[in-house]
Amino acid sequence: MRTLLLALLTAFLPAQEAFLVKPYLQLGDAPKGLAKERLDVLWHTTDQEGAWSVEMRAGKGWVAQAAPAFQRLDAPPLPPHRIYRATLRNLGPGARMPYRLKRDGAVVFEAVAQVRKPGPHRMVVFGDAADGSAGQVAIAQAVLAAAPDAVFIVGDLVYGMGQASDYRARFFPVYNAEALPLMRTVPFLGVPGNHDVPFRKVPDAAAYFAYWSLPMNGPALKRGDLNAAPVVPGVHDAVVAASGAAYPRMASFSFDYGPAHWTVLDSNAYVDWESPEMKAWLEADLKTAKGAAWRIVALHHPLFQSSRSHMDDQWMRPISPILEKYGVDLVLAGHVHNYQRSAPLRFKTTQIGRRGKPVAGEFTVDEAFDGKTRTRAQGVIHVVTGAGGAELYDPWQTDIRASWQPWTRTFISDRHSFTVLDVEAKKLRMRQLDAEGRELDAITLTK
Ligand SMILES: [Fe+2]
Repeated sequence: MRTLLLALLTAFLPAQEAFLVKPYLQLGDAPKGLAKERLDVLWHTTDQEGAWSVEMRAGKGWVAQAAPAFQRLDAPPLPPHRIYRATLRNLGPGARMPYRLKRDGAVVFEAVAQVRKPGPHRMVVFGDAADGSAGQVAIAQAVLAAAPDAVFIVGDLVYGMGQASDYRARFFPVYNAEALPLMRTVPFLGVPGNHDVPFRKVPDAAAYFAYWSLPMNGPALKRGDLNAAPVVPGVHDAVVAASGAAYPRMASFSFDYGPAHWTVLDSNAYVDWESPEMKAWLEADLKTAKGAAWRIVALHHPLFQSSRSHMDDQWMRPISPILEKYGVDLVLAGHVHNYQRSAPLRFKTTQIGRRGKPVAGEFTVDEAFDGKTRTRAQGVIHVVTGAGGAELYDPWQTDIRASWQPWTRTFISDRHSFTVLDVEAKKLRMRQLDAEGRELDAITLTK
């Protein structure tokens, strides 16, 4: 009787209750721009049978896509749930593509997807994001108002420990809300920060690997490898199982968007980017990106920054010469909860402290570049954009220039902010905006 009642209730549930998390867009395993583009759409449901289908608008009608597949995640404290995934294929580059979902034949969701653009586009970047604060929501609203084509989060995607339950409480309700329809309309990309990997023994940690769908072209890591995010047998098995091939490989990857090539690095302390396998991948990736107009590196832990907080977390510095050798234009990082921009610089390591804390070396700074009249940078510009929601670090330093490193050009920690990149083949404009859309900083790079 109870089963029958439950079945009847389920059949008449209103459409919005079909989802635990409504559909959201991901780039999927599509590193290169394609003549026929694709996007992944993911959604979460209870662990109950349902006949799901995804359709795309074609002329006046709708065309069914390949059937979705799901992984089951059974990791407390959330009840077991399903992570569905479908791939939208044969998309026109740059198109705005209506798509909809049906459950048991009834339309339960409809949105319009922004397909990857082949040319000029707007990418929004921020980090240290979903902590449930008013700042997080305000930045998300401002990001929506900035009308990005895609969004990249530079790590510490969700607080406190990257758990599935954290995503349910603080991530999806903000970035994929009915009133704030970001994730269902533009693809989100990201890189795991220290809060996104399983550094504590909670069973639903490292949900990044199960909930995100990003290119699988990073170093071919396997569970147990020294450079792989460490998991504890008997604790994290459910997340690992639900992640499929994404764990541990999806921690680093690369992708193209328009004229830009992005190299995305897992900078967590367990990764040794000086090890032969990691270094070889990084070099090979940047080498293949020679033809791109812009080369951007995104990672969580900055190489160069001025905040007193995390000042000693410098273990990524030794990759500098590789980035310089292959002409990387921008490094975008988070971890430090504020905004900072360096002058174009080059760095040669002279001394590495224990576990990369700290790393000393020689700087060569492009003093001429001003991003306004002198826009051809000689060196790499290092940006910290970690003011996306979490509590700000060292706001007092904003006005005390003497507390900045000599190569820091901008330091803003008295408010939350995010980065807007307007990318064209010969020109890249970078602006930092606050929650009211006010411009805090702006530079132009030209080639
Ligand atoms: Fe962090």
